[in-house]
Amino acid sequence: MPRSPLLFRWLATCALLVMTAASAQASARERLSLDGGWLFHRGEVAMPAIKGHGMSYQNGKANNGWGPAAADFDDSGWRRLDLPHDWAVENPFDRDENVSQGYRARGIGWYRRYLQLPETDRGRHIELQFDAIATHSTVWINGIVVDRRWSGYDGRSIDITPYVRYGTDPNTIAVRVDADAQEGWWYEGAGIYRHSWLVKRDALHIATDGLHANPVNQGGRWTIPVEVTLQSSAKAASDGTVDAVLTDPAGREVARGSARARIDALGSAIARIKLEVRDPKLWSLAQPNVYRVRAVLRDRANEIDRTEVQTGFRSIRFDADRGFLLNGEAVKIQGVCIHQDHAGVGVAVPEAIWEFRLRRLKEMGTNAIRFAHNAPATEVLDMADRMGLLVMDENRHFNPSPDYMQQLTWLVRRDRNHPSVVLWSIFNEEPLQSTEAGYEMSRRMVHEIKKLDTTRPVTGAMHGGLTTALNAADALDVVGLNYQTWIYDDYHKKHPKRPLTSTEDTSAFMTRGEYASDRKAQVMGSYDDEPSSWGNTHRDAWKAIAQRPFIAGSFVWTGMDYRGEPTPYEWPSASSFFGAMDLAGFAKGAFWIHQAQWVKDRPVVKLQPHWNWTGREGQDIHVMVTSNAQRVRVLLNDRTIGEQAVDPYEMNHFQVPYAPGRIEAVALRDGKEVAHDVVETSGAPVSLVLTPDRQALAGDGLDAMPVTVSAVDARGRPVPLAQDKVSFSLEGQGAIIGVGNGDPNSHEADKASARSLFNGLAQVIVQSRRDGRGVLRLRAHAEGLQGAEVELAVNAVHASPRVPDVEPTTPLQSWRVSPPATTRPDPNVVLAENDMNSWGWDEPPMRRGPEAGAFRLYRSGVNVRADRNDGRAQLSFGGIAGKAEVWVDGVKLGEKIQAEPAPFAVTLPRGAAHREVTVLIEAVQGQASGLWGRVVLERGAR
Ligand code: GAL
Repeated sequence: MPRSPLLFRWLATCALLVMTAASAQASARERLSLDGGWLFHRGEVAMPAIKGHGMSYQNGKANNGWGPAAADFDDSGWRRLDLPHDWAVENPFDRDENVSQGYRARGIGWYRRYLQLPETDRGRHIELQFDAIATHSTVWINGIVVDRRWSGYDGRSIDITPYVRYGTDPNTIAVRVDADAQEGWWYEGAGIYRHSWLVKRDALHIATDGLHANPVNQGGRWTIPVEVTLQSSAKAASDGTVDAVLTDPAGREVARGSARARIDALGSAIARIKLEVRDPKLWSLAQPNVYRVRAVLRDRANEIDRTEVQTGFRSIRFDADRGFLLNGEAVKIQGVCIHQDHAGVGVAVPEAIWEFRLRRLKEMGTNAIRFAHNAPATEVLDMADRMGLLVMDENRHFNPSPDYMQQLTWLVRRDRNHPSVVLWSIFNEEPLQSTEAGYEMSRRMVHEIKKLDTTRPVTGAMHGGLTTALNAADALDVVGLNYQTWIYDDYHKKHPKRPLTSTEDTSAFMTRGEYASDRKAQVMGSYDDEPSSWGNTHRDAWKAIAQRPFIAGSFVWTGMDYRGEPTPYEWPSASSFFGAMDLAGFAKGAFWIHQAQWVKDRPVVKLQPHWNWTGREGQDIHVMVTSNAQRVRVLLNDRTIGEQAVDPYEMNHFQVPYAPGRIEAVALRDGKEVAHDVVETSGAPVSLVLTPDRQALAGDGLDAMPVTVSAVDARGRPVPLAQDKVSFSLEGQGAIIGVGNGDPNSHEADKASARSLFNGLAQVIVQSRRDGRGVLRLRAHAEGLQGAEVELAVNAVHASPRVPDVEPTTPLQSWRVSPPATTRPDPNVVLAENDMNSWGWDEPPMRRGPEAGAFRLYRSGVNVRADRNDGRAQLSFGGIAGKAEVWVDGVKLGEKIQAEPAPFAVTLPRGAAHREVTVLIEAVQGQASGLWGRVVLERGAR
C-alpha cells in the first residue's frame, strides 16, 4: 500500500527526532563504572601450542587472542565478581611463599567481561580505563591485544574505539594478570585492585588527564595557566572552543576564560587559557580550600565534552635554612610513610576505608603522607586535598628509559593539579644513588618532570651515597634523607644551599597492646625502645628533626602496618611491626607519642600500658604518659603517684607499684587540668561490643566502614587482653568484606566471618549493597560471652552511572568465505589446512554481490560454553540474505527457505566443545546475499 505523503513526513520527522536525541546523548561525556559483572579465574589457563600452518597463519594476525584471550572462550566455570579485587588476600598464609609479600601466593589470574555498546555510540571515542592492576597485565578486546603494562601502580587508559562493535553485537574484554612479577619488597596484592571505567566521549574530546590547572603566584598575583589537551579520533580536522571555569569552595564561579583550537584528524592540540584570580582563599592545612576548574569543549554551538579537577591556591617552598614553607610560613612536616593495604581487604581498599585511614593519621597529628613507594589511588589524593594533608608523590621505578619514563610522566600528568602534592619523589634508596650513573638518571627524570610541572620540587630518598663526588642527590631540588640522622649537620654544612628533608626515618618495632618484647613469641613491646639497627626510636628520630629547622620534616616509617616485611622476624610473622597503628588502624604506643609531639590545636594526654597486671601486685610497672601539655600528674586509685614537667621529646615515665584499680593521667597547663586519661583494671570479659565508625552507609555498593569489635567485663570496662574468637553474621543491605585484628603473627583468614580479638580488639569491614536501601544488621558472637548487634542505616543514593552487566554471549568470528559458485557446492567440503587464500577471510556483517554465481559457503569455528551445551542454545544469525542451509560438523541443522534478508536461528544439539559451522547461501539472481548481521551462540529459552 503506498504511504500517504503526510504519513511519510510524520515518519521522517520522528526519525529525525530520534536521531537528534541520539546524537545529543552521544555527544556528552559519559564516565561509567565498569566495576561490575566480571568473571575471574585464578591461575594460568594454558594457551594452545601454535602448531600447523593454519593456526600459525592466524596467530600472526591482529585478532589472534587464543584461549581465554579469545572472544569465544568458554568461561562458564569462572567466578563472578565485582572489582576492585585482590586475589592474594584471599589466599592462605604459606611458609613457602615470599616473606616480603606477606607469605601469600600471588601467581597468575584472568578476568573476562562482556560488553555491549549501543548503536548511538558509533563515532564516539571509547576508552577503557583501569586505575591499577597488580602487576603485569595484558588486555584484549575481541581477541585483539590492546594494552600491555608491567607496573602494578599505574593507570591504563586504552582507546578501544577501533575494535569495538555496536548494537546487539557482544564485545569481550579479557585481562591476563601476572602477579608473580614483583616490584616491591612489601605486599603488593594481585589483580584489578582499583576501579575500572568505560569513558565515552565525542570523537573530538579532552584527553584523559588532559586538564592542567595549577595556580601560580607571580609577584603577588594569582593566575591559573590552564592547559587543555584536546584529541580527535574524527576523520577530518575540526575546530573546538574550550571554556575554563573556576569555582570557589562554595561552588560559585569566580573566573572564566576561553580559547579556540584546531585539531587535526587523529591529532591533538593544547588550548591555553589564563584565569586571573583576585584574593583567592588559600589552601592550608587548617583550611584546605579546594577550588575546582571545569573545562568545557564545544564544537559550534554544542557542548561536546567536559571535565573537572580539584585545585587550590597555595605557595610552597623548600628552603635550605628554614625547611618547608606553606604560604610563606614555615611548617614542619609531620609526615608518615604508608603502603596501601588494609586489614581484611588487602590492596582493594574502598574509598571510605581510605578516608578512615587518613582521618586516623590526622588524629595522630600527621600533616603529610609519603605514599611509599608508588603512585596512590587518585581518589586518595582528592581526599588529601580536602582534608589538608601534604603529599610526597612517588614514582615506583628509578629509570629514565622510555618505558619507565612513561610511568613517571603519567604520574605527573595525573597528579599535578592537587594542592596537597608538594614534592615529587623519583627514587628510594637505590644502589646506584652514589654513582655518576645515578646522577645522570636522576637528572633526566628531574628534567622530564619539569617539562610538565615547574612548580613542585623533586626529591629522591638517599640512604648513603651522599659523599661521592657526583651522585643522584646532586640533581635533586630537595635532598631526601632516609635515616642517617647523624649526617644531618654535616651534610647541611657541606651543602648549605640545599634544602633537606627526611624522606624516611624511625623504623622502630611495636606490637599493639604488648608491653614487653618477647623474641621467642615474636612480639615487640610498646614503650618505644625497639629501634631497628638502621633507624631510631620514634622519639629520637623526631627530636633530631624537630631541633633542626633546616630539615623540612619527618616521614616516619610507617604510619600504619602493612603486610609483608615483618622485620625483624620472619615466619610465622607475616605483616610489619613498624606502624604507629596496626593493620586495622588501631593505635599502638607510637600513635600516642606522635600525637603528643605533633598535635598543637588541642590538649592531649594518654597513659600506657593497660592496667591488668594480675600476679604483679606491688611490683613496679613502667607507666608512660604522652602529652602536649606543660605538666602531667599520675594518680593510682585517687592517690597521686607523681607529677612531672612534660618532656616533649622523651615523654614522661613513672614507675608505679601495681595495685588493681584505676590509674589516671592528668595533663596540666598553667596549673589547670586540660585533659585526662583513665585506665582501669578489668575483670573477665562478659560481653562483646560493636562500635561502628559511622551510623549509616550510602547504598551504592561502594561505601564501607570498619566496625570495631571489643569485649567488656561485667561493669562495662574494656578488657585489654581479651583474645576471644568472635564470629559474625550479617543481614540486610550489605556484606562483610574482610576482618582483621592487627596481630602480625595471626594466620586467620582476612576474607572470613570470624576473627579472634587480639589484645582486646578486632575489626570487621562491612560494605553496602548496590542499590541498597534500609538497614544492615551485624551480629557478633563468641563462646561464653553475651553477643552484640549493631544496626546501620543503608541510605538509598542516586546510583552513579555504570555499564550494565551483560549475559555472556559467544560471537562467531574469523569467517572463511568461499568464492561464488554457479552450482551448489558440498557444504562439507574440506579446506586444506595450509590453504589461506582460495577462500577469503571476513567478519560479519558480510555482504556479497549481486554477482555471477549464486552459491557461497561461509565457515567459522565456535567454542561452545559448557553452560550452552545443553541442547537448547541458539546459533543465531542477525540476518541472512538469500536462501540458506546451516551445517554444524557435517549435520544440517536448519534451512532458510525464504530468500529475503531476515534473522535466522538454529538450535544447537549437545555435542563437542568445539564445532565447525558452515552456512551455504544461495543468492537470488541479481541480488546481494550474505551474513548481514552478527552471528552468536546464545542461551536458549528454558
Ligand atoms: C627502608 C625502605 C622501606 C622499608 C624500611 C624498613 O630502607 O625504604 O621501604 O623497607 O626500610 O625499615
